[in-house]
Amino acid sequence: MPGITAWAGFYELAAPRKGENVYISAATLLEVQEVEILKNKFGFDDAFNYKEEQDLDAALKRCFPEGIDIYFENVGGKMLDAVLLNMRLHGRITACGMISQYNLSQTEGVHNMMNIVFKRIQMKGFFATDYFPEYAKFLDVVLPLIREGKVVYLEDIAEGLETAPAALVGLFTGRNVGKQVVAVSKE
Ligand SMILES: NC(=O)c1ccc[n+]([C@@H]2O[C@H](COP(=O)([O-])OP(=O)(O)OC[C@H]3O[C@@H](n4cnc5c(N)ncnc54)[C@H](OP(=O)(O)O)[C@@H]3O)[C@@H](O)[C@H]2O)c1
Repeated sequence: MPGITAWAGFYELAAPRKGENVYISAATLLEVQEVEILKNKFGFDDAFNYKEEQDLDAALKRCFPEGIDIYFENVGGKMLDAVLLNMRLHGRITACGMISQYNLSQTEGVHNMMNIVFKRIQMKGFFATDYFPEYAKFLDVVLPLIREGKVVYLEDIAEGLETAPAALVGLFTGRNVGKQVVAVSKE
């Protein structure tokens, strides 16, 4: 599910071109060491921990001095507002999710929407399930990239079904590093 979501949102919707600046939000990171994992293991040029930044606009300007061409939106709210200020002309936003809004009794407003007009931005939402008929195409693209080490992933594996409740609760406190998986049995 995460793989085809990333593939569809990135390649099918955002259609990246060589040299473009891409901002992907809500990658699993919490501590300084996890920012380093994003840079050293996953090959991002820069990364920041949203929990440590007082000013998201300043953080984005630090990471993207020339602005953002493609924003892979997973967060919404204040993050989207800050991103809109930093998008480049003709930028594209792939709307995948808005996790910052899911547990609020009242969702936040987004105030910088006029940037969509000024900067001729395209914003398009999608569901990964729309692309399930293309699962074979996704595997054809991604499996060779994994074998060649061009796509890498990190799993946080909890061993045994009895660890599942704690693993689930940990998702809401940012305890996991990488995709949380429960291995019921190795057989
Ligand atoms: N469109 C689709 O078909 C589709 C399919 C699957 C998922 N999604 C969306 O993709 C996103 C990620 O899903 P997932 O399954 O990968 O979730 P996940 O494994 O639970 O990870 C959620 C991530 O969001 C971060 N996060 C939470 N609140 C945040 C905030 N206010 N600002 C910035 N980051 C925040 C968490 O970081 P901390 O733990 O450090 O807080 C964590 O890294 C969600 O928005 C989900 O709705 C969409």
